[in-house]
Amino acid sequence: MEVFNVMKTECIEIDSNNPEEALCYKAAKVIINSGLVAFPTETVYGLGANAFDVKAVRKIFAAKERPFEDPLIIHISDLESLSELARDIPPVAFKLAEKFWPGPLTLILKKKKKVPVLVTGGLDTVAVRMPKNKIALSLIECAGKPICAPSANLFGRISPTRARHVLQDLDGKIDMVIDGGTTLIGVESTIIDLTQDVPQVLRPGGISYEKLKNVTPFRKSRSHKRILSPGMYKSHYAPKAKLVLADGKGDAGINEIRRLADQYRKAFKNVGIVSVQEHKEEYPGFTVKTLGPGNNLTVCAANLYAVLRELDVLGVDIILSESFHRQGLGAAIMDRLKKASGV
Ligand code: TXA
Ligand code: MG
Repeated sequence: MEVFNVMKTECIEIDSNNPEEALCYKAAKVIINSGLVAFPTETVYGLGANAFDVKAVRKIFAAKERPFEDPLIIHISDLESLSELARDIPPVAFKLAEKFWPGPLTLILKKKKKVPVLVTGGLDTVAVRMPKNKIALSLIECAGKPICAPSANLFGRISPTRARHVLQDLDGKIDMVIDGGTTLIGVESTIIDLTQDVPQVLRPGGISYEKLKNVTPFRKSRSHKRILSPGMYKSHYAPKAKLVLADGKGDAGINEIRRLADQYRKAFKNVGIVSVQEHKEEYPGFTVKTLGPGNNLTVCAANLYAVLRELDVLGVDIILSESFHRQGLGAAIMDRLKKASGV
């Protein structure tokens, strides 16, 4: 008997340049009725629920199979909502918000009592950001509530940058997905902890270190014995295939990948290679997926997760990836590749 892949989650298309209000209200109604709606942001698709509705928030953890100690980011559509969620907000928070919101920057602040502990993983802090996507902003406004949303993927898997990626992981487990096209940035927001003496970046992302530096001094993310951000287990963002990241860059990187590719092929492994466009022809005989021009990290970041998903769909056993300089979005790309490689 043939098995059909029946879609069980309602999928509605909304124009990201000019979101249809009636459709945004339709999605907001699902949120108000304690349902889950996946929606596009400028970084990746989020899986949203009313942040004050514990019953709904619990469904997020169930759908994603996410551990409860991994806290969620709350998305807001206006600055006033920040004071509703956080207390003792330092001036640097407003400076950063003014410069980067709406945009891919998440602020960690001391939480107000009314924020459910389920959202914050039992922590005394809360993560807040204002996304730069008209659909996301309209959804929050129509719902009239802040919306907590992790990336709309199964826990530990690759974040979705298209509506169909959401359905690949969560079809039938959530009420609705809004198809607003491909997300622009393609890697998650930068997370900065403002509850310490000196702000500390917990996750590099859409706002680069270079841009942050113009507004505030900060410490960079690094491996800590104490896990500062509970959800940041090393195996995050992992494709199904084993990912190996080349150490070398340029010609050294190419040679290293060729050597590893030959080695894995001799062991009867199916190899996929992730490279920049200029190196496409450097690996004859192997499946090569390119991220974009090496000098355009915006394009490379935007394509990263879709390319990793494509290689998974092809069923490769090993993904060999080129390395990037940690400048601009390169820091976020390298962070995700490192986590995907599990080292
Ligand atoms: O771009 C993004 O940030 C996307 C879109 C949907 O907004 N969201 C996202 O959410 O990446 P998620 O849940 O996949 O990753 C959020 C990270 C988690 O690793 C979590 O541990 C951390 O933020 N986080 C949340 N609240 C925190 C807190 N109070 N303290 C430290 N880390 C926190
Ligand atoms: Mg995530």
